[in-house]
Amino acid sequence: MPCRICGDPTDTVLDLGSMPAANRLKTSKQEEEPRYPLVLERCAGCFNLQLRDCVDENELYGHYLYLTPDSRALHAHNRLLVEHMFREGYASAGSFVLEIGSNVGRFLKHLQPHVRKVVGIDPAENVCRIARADGIETVCAFFAVDLAMQLEAAYGVPDVIVARHCCAHNKNPHRIIAGIKALLPENGIFIMENAYAPNTLLNNEFDQIYHEHMFYYAIRPVVKLLEMHDMRLVDIAMAPIHGGSVVFFAAHATARSRVRESVRVHMNEEQAVLGDELLGRFVESVRAIRRDIRALVADLLGQGKTVWSYGATAKGSTLLNYIGLTDEHIRFCADSTPIKHGRFIPMANIEILPEEEAWKASPDYFLLTAWNYKDEIIPKVRAMGNARTKFIVPIPSVSVQ
Ligand code: TMP
Ligand code: ZN
Repeated sequence: MPCRICGDPTDTVLDLGSMPAANRLKTSKQEEEPRYPLVLERCAGCFNLQLRDCVDENELYGHYLYLTPDSRALHAHNRLLVEHMFREGYASAGSFVLEIGSNVGRFLKHLQPHVRKVVGIDPAENVCRIARADGIETVCAFFAVDLAMQLEAAYGVPDVIVARHCCAHNKNPHRIIAGIKALLPENGIFIMENAYAPNTLLNNEFDQIYHEHMFYYAIRPVVKLLEMHDMRLVDIAMAPIHGGSVVFFAAHATARSRVRESVRVHMNEEQAVLGDELLGRFVESVRAIRRDIRALVADLLGQGKTVWSYGATAKGSTLLNYIGLTDEHIRFCADSTPIKHGRFIPMANIEILPEEEAWKASPDYFLLTAWNYKDEIIPKVRAMGNARTKFIVPIPSVSVQ
């Protein structure tokens, strides 16, 4: 498939096989689960990493079970981002901030006390309802030029437009950027946040690859994407959230905004690491993780030990299904999200139970499929009186703690 950013040819980096939609938790083991190829490819021109095959968006987001968790790490990240926006003058008390893909509105909730107006947009009706109940005005729709015009008529022109992770969750980011280009005022700022592909590769986070993640962004392809819409990068901030994220700040190419030193610094850093060697090492490491977890779990089960997973994440679906672990190996999965309880991880067919039950059941091992919250989850489990269960941390390489 040609690059969906610049149109140049691509080559295959990693084929994870045929997989169900990672967030489509099932209500029973028997429920049907359509599977789709999961293949990562790389553009030779702009170094865009993308999925070869994109699943229909209504199929993925119609009833969406991913609710931004109430996590300390996420709150801290949101706070830092808001501080950066104010410190650099991208937002002020008079700003109207529009967020595309706002989910349950956690980021806007942080911003709301500091600015004039916040409005969210999200395609999943169930998610929008939760956001509205929490006091965040949210429009249920996919964002594109036509919607941008309707939003302008209904709410006015936003000073800041934020798109966090949604340019990776959509097979045509050009549609989103074109809508932003049309809606953003001359001196407005567009903030785009994504998992940072070089970190994903360096940390061996192959489990970030699932159908919702159609793009894995580095700076290079984003510069290209923005250029194609007459926009340019003015600032970059790196953040530890989601295993290493990048926040891009962009403006119209014609705007007077100053280009911060951060752009040059991070582009140089990226230039030094992003290349074929990194891709080769990534693929090797992914195979090693699969081999190591398979061997470890087989050994533990052979000794009569019990293993649960912890965190019914989309990442967990990819990890378990690529490795080939099922309810035959993993007894249950613990998770804090009530709507996930009683459901099953697709393909692996593992039932999800509340965290409290997992602490009490005290299995011998937890395979930590929410490894990104390791520093929150392990201390919490210990504080709840479970000193016994060991954690298998799969990423960046397999360790037991
Ligand atoms: P995410 O990595 O996609 O944000 O998902 C995190 C999942 O982990 C989510 O389903 C909630 C779950 N979780 C817990 O079960 N316990 C916790 O303490 C935290 C922070 C998350
Ligand atoms: Zn490209």
